[in-house]
Amino acid sequence: MDSPFWDLVTIWLARASGVMVLTGAGISAESGVPTFRGKDGLWNRFRPEELATLEALQRDPERVWTWYRWRRKKVLQAQPNPAHRALVTLEQWKQPHFLLVTQNVDGLHQRAGSQAVVEFHGNLFEDVCLQCGFHRRIESVASEDSAVPYCPRCGHLLKPGVVMFGEPIPEQALHHVIEFIPRTDILLVIGTSAQVYPAAAIPRWVKDHGGKVVEVNPEQTPVTEMADAFLRGPAGKLVPKLVQDAMKKQQVPHERTFSG
Ligand code: APR
Repeated sequence: MDSPFWDLVTIWLARASGVMVLTGAGISAESGVPTFRGKDGLWNRFRPEELATLEALQRDPERVWTWYRWRRKKVLQAQPNPAHRALVTLEQWKQPHFLLVTQNVDGLHQRAGSQAVVEFHGNLFEDVCLQCGFHRRIESVASEDSAVPYCPRCGHLLKPGVVMFGEPIPEQALHHVIEFIPRTDILLVIGTSAQVYPAAAIPRWVKDHGGKVVEVNPEQTPVTEMADAFLRGPAGKLVPKLVQDAMKKQQVPHERTFSG
């Protein structure tokens, strides 16, 4: 690859014991799932405060549920891409010292075969009741009618299982990430604009604990400045090659990896 850091990053990844990956909407872009920001981003067409907040859901449940059902249909038409699949290979190579933290709610990492996944912003394919805690998985959208869903247990309005703006990150998800940070030798930050906290704080947390941060993105972001390496390009092209080249490095005895 054309980055001067490419070879170094493959050595860091080969030698790393604890590997964490943080993904954003950009990793699913090549699967045809729209990102939120940038030229074709969802937030250019819709206002997040009108769709992705609890107030919006209470104010206009019909509109909010129509939007989330549209997103479910869009995602179900999508397939995991080579970047999702390369992270499955990376997980199989580095497990159990591997954690994939995703801001995405599309479930494409799990559909690709990833297992050590922390869904930092929840999952699109769940209905949850904020009143009584009822929740159910949604396997297909075809079976869903267009009406606003209410809790079969307590009758309260249901919400999609995503973390809406203003809602806290699921306790277990946050704890899982914080607990893994000290074990992280390298963090791959893939396809996120790093605008939304606390997910956007994870690279800083890893740096502060002495871990390396490597960013994969066609564009620079607030993470780029602090990253130890910035690999400019689409995830679908760079991530499979990065994992493949790092695995080759692992087969080479250490003393030769610094040759030249
Ligand atoms: N490969 C890698 N990165 C890409 C690609 C690609 N093919 N295409 C776009 N990107 C990058 C963009 O440059 C941008 O930096 O992906 C990033 C997408 O940024 P956002 O759309 O802001 O998505 P994300 O960072 O995941 O948003 C975070 O914001 O709206 C909330 O809850 C929502 O989880 C989401 C959070």
